[in-house]
Amino acid sequence: MSDVLTPMDRAGADPFAPLAGPGQWHEPAPVFAKGEVPAHVALVMDGNGRWANSRGLARTEGHRAGEYALMDTIAGAIDAGVRYLSVYTFSTENWKRSPQEVRFIMSYATDVLARRTGQLKEWGVHVRWSGRQPRLWKSVITALQRADEQTRDNSTLDLIMCVNYGGRAEITDAARDIARRVSEGSLRAEGVTEKTFARHLYLPDVPDVDLMIRTSGEQRISNYLLWQLAYAEMMFVDTPWPAFDREALWDCLLQYAGRERRFGGAIDAVHR
Ligand code: FPP
Repeated sequence: MSDVLTPMDRAGADPFAPLAGPGQWHEPAPVFAKGEVPAHVALVMDGNGRWANSRGLARTEGHRAGEYALMDTIAGAIDAGVRYLSVYTFSTENWKRSPQEVRFIMSYATDVLARRTGQLKEWGVHVRWSGRQPRLWKSVITALQRADEQTRDNSTLDLIMCVNYGGRAEITDAARDIARRVSEGSLRAEGVTEKTFARHLYLPDVPDVDLMIRTSGEQRISNYLLWQLAYAEMMFVDTPWPAFDREALWDCLLQYAGRERRFGGAIDAVHR
């Protein structure tokens, strides 16, 4: 990562310019042994507003710069062999922001999907949506569904856009679905297991998160993927999201490769 140049600085100002894709970096991605690469990485892209304000810019300029950081990070994830990348784009709590900022984010998400889906398709990305329909702008839902349809034959990387997403909302929706099925008689209450529950999440085919990365120094989960994060490794980096890039992701993946995951088990290794 460069402290001076953000992915947006490197790409130039043209919002339609093709960005450096997978394999188009001045250095190759690190090579990982089998099993060292997390299958599912979840990103909390935090710090857009603070990054912009610290440069005397409006918060929305931070969101614009965040688009470039996201594209660069997706390219780096593909290079490293990550299979699923979840990105927290708009939470069920983000409606508390000013109406102007909410309007900007809704329009900008639609705009990003319209401009970038073609490029993501070329990179082998399947764009998917996780979140609640109610309250979300129709234009955003349509853009997400269109991007999904256009890229659904791809299987290099699933990009899961968490939009109007909340972990508690997802768990509540799954519980409501299960309760309905029990009351209809198509499911027995005694037969409800963790596996049953996981099958009622928004995207049941997506595996649990292996690595969660939050940028910008905050150390919180903020209602993100609460079920799927149960055994995830956590990384909190100080870099604000607009300055994050593929090299920053690779640094996190290298640290992840050095961690020991025990999933509640234990290793008896007495040091003498
Ligand atoms: C957090 O920064 C970032 C977001 C809430 C995501 C913004 C989402 C978009 C602009 C939608 C479309 C864009 C992409 C790239 C998919 P923050 O505003 O919380 O920053 P702060 O913590 O400094 O206030």
